Parts: sequence; C-alpha cells; structure tokens
Amino acid sequence: MIADVVVGLQYGDEGKGKVTHHLCRSGGYTHVLRFNGGCNAGHTIFHEGRKFITHHIPAGVFFGIKSIIGNGCVLDPVQFFRELTELQEGGIRTEGKIFIANNCHVITDSHKEEDGKDTTIGTTKRGNGPAYRDKYDRKGLLAKEVPELKPYLIDLYDEFYVKDPDAKVLCEGAQAFGLDIDWGDYPYVTSSHCLTSSVFLNGIPHTAIRDVWGVAKAYETYVGAKKFQPDNNIMLDKIQQVGQEFGATTGRVRQCNWLNLSFLKRSVLMNSVNKLVINKLDVLKETETWNVINKDDRDKNFYEFFSKEIDFKERIIKEFDSIQTPFEIIFSQSPEQI
Ligand code: IMP
Ligand code: MG
Repeated sequence: MIADVVVGLQYGDEGKGKVTHHLCRSGGYTHVLRFNGGCNAGHTIFHEGRKFITHHIPAGVFFGIKSIIGNGCVLDPVQFFRELTELQEGGIRTEGKIFIANNCHVITDSHKEEDGKDTTIGTTKRGNGPAYRDKYDRKGLLAKEVPELKPYLIDLYDEFYVKDPDAKVLCEGAQAFGLDIDWGDYPYVTSSHCLTSSVFLNGIPHTAIRDVWGVAKAYETYVGAKKFQPDNNIMLDKIQQVGQEFGATTGRVRQCNWLNLSFLKRSVLMNSVNKLVINKLDVLKETETWNVINKDDRDKNFYEFFSKEIDFKERIIKEFDSIQTPFEIIFSQSPEQI
C-alpha cells in the first residue's frame, strides 16, 4: 500500500482542496480518504472551470476515484445527501464512488441544535463538537446504525487489508494544526485530530506513508471567537479584502495575520511534512507586503519586513534549511489562478 497525506499547517483554509484536487488528477490513486472532521470543513475546489464547495465528500469523487469518509470523521447524513445531490446536479458521477466507514460517528439533529447555541468558541455550528463528545462518552450513533447510510458503508480493514492491499490512497485532512484538539490553541480548537498521525487512526499503516503535503498560506487567517488580527492594521485589512478571506462554510470574515515562521516550523515537523506548499503569494504581491513573524509568543510579536518577494521566499527557505530529509517547498498562488 502507498499513502500520501494532505494536511493543513495553520488554522484551516490554506488551500488543501486545491492541492488534493491537483494530486487526484495526476497521482494515480485508487482511494481518497478523509480522515478527520465533519461538515465544519469547506473545501473549495475549481473543477473544469466550475467552483464546488464540498464539506463531507472527499475530492477524489471529481475524478471517479473511490472516496471514503473515514472513521476519524463525524458525518451529518442530512448534509451528506445534500452534497451528493449538488455534485450530481453539477454533473459529477457519484454512483459506486462514495463510501462511509461503518464505524464513523453520526452528527444528529440534537448535536446541531446544541452547537448552534455556541458563543464562546465561534464554532461553525455544524454539530461537530457535540458529536465527538458523545463518541468519546460512548453514547454516540454509528453510521452502521443509520438505515439510509447502509448503501454507502465500507469496512476499512476489509478494504485495505483483504480486498486491496496494494491500494494507493490519498489521505485528505480537514482543519489544521492550529485548530487541532491537542496541539491547537485550546479551547479555540476543533474537536478532532488534524495531524498526519490521525491517518493511522483510520486504518492506514505507517509503513505505507510516502509523501506528506503540508499546506500553508503566505499569511495566516483564522475564523472563530478569539482575537487573532491586531487592531487598526490597514495592511492586514487589505489582505483580507484582496485574498477574499471569507469562511467557505459560514461566510464569516477571516481574521488575518502575518505568516508565523516558528509556528509553521513546529507544524511542519510535527506533521512529518516533506512537501511544503505556500499558497496565495499573489495576494501579497498585490498588497506589496512581505512581513513574517518569527517568534513563538504572539504577544511579543517579532516582525521581519521584506520589500521583495524573492527575499520573503529566501527567508522561508532558510527556515527549513536544517531539515535533513528530502524537503521541497512549492510556492503557489490562489486556487482560481491555476
Ligand atoms: P468547529 O470545528 O465547528 O467546532 O469549530 C471550532 C473552531 O474551528 C472554530 O474557530 C471554527 O471556525 C474553526 N474551524 C472548523 N472547521 C474549519 C475549517 O474547515 N476551516 C477553518 N476554520 C475551521
Ligand atoms: Mg476550508
């Protein structure tokens, strides 16, 4: 078995959908596996000139690849069937391509109702947190207990160890390191494990891992209740506007900040990233600002200012100089630029 992984390195919305879509087109995968999160995620995908936003269904479906919602995810059947219809109406063939791990937990109406009342974390109100809580409290509802989901169920052991031990799997992460339940800025986090290590919880053996694609933006964005963007910063406001930084799931304005290099390095190392994608350089080109922060402690922000794109790129390359394993950095643009 071979498995490649796509993970978010900041606070979500780094452009994982774009990378996944690109890899699906060229990678020869037999399966795409979503390994964490629920319909709080919003993956924006430009496919054959059209824009799709998927919340549950992995990007493999655009290329007729078997697409699986793994047991690390939580699934809202209402949203699942809505998305299925949207894809079909958009001309995407879904029959026999979409599967749900039989041990995946379900988001119920009461989970959504409860999450809808959240005011402290700034959740996406999709029922994610309550569904994971009930899973760990051993009161949850499994996908295999929901009759309408029966046609989509899959047993991941059977699939990867019995039927198709030579599978070539693209593992698609949702959210990101900075939102991870353990490594993010608790309590301003999501309720799932967002790191590469989460892949193994979905039945993929560690020996199968080939490449880990870590996705970041040339600046940072965050949606949620905590204060993230400094006040009265015209440049960051401009980045928000030029970058069209609005949440794909909720439409909320994303708070912006400069790229934090020490945070990025931590995220790269803890995710075993060997392919680092830095997206949306076109936004900084338009705003003509190339700042980075190089300090763990954001309260004592330590800025480095660059006047040219090339200096910004070289600074990032230098940060990852000491990484021993073959390591590649790919500088890229906004998804719609490709
Ligand atoms: P929840 O995952 O809906 O419980 O939300 C917890 C936090 O994670 C909130 O700050 C959300 O805005 C954030 N969040 C969850 N999913 C995403 C995502 O896909 N992109 C960006 N932020 C997200
Ligand atoms: Mg997103």
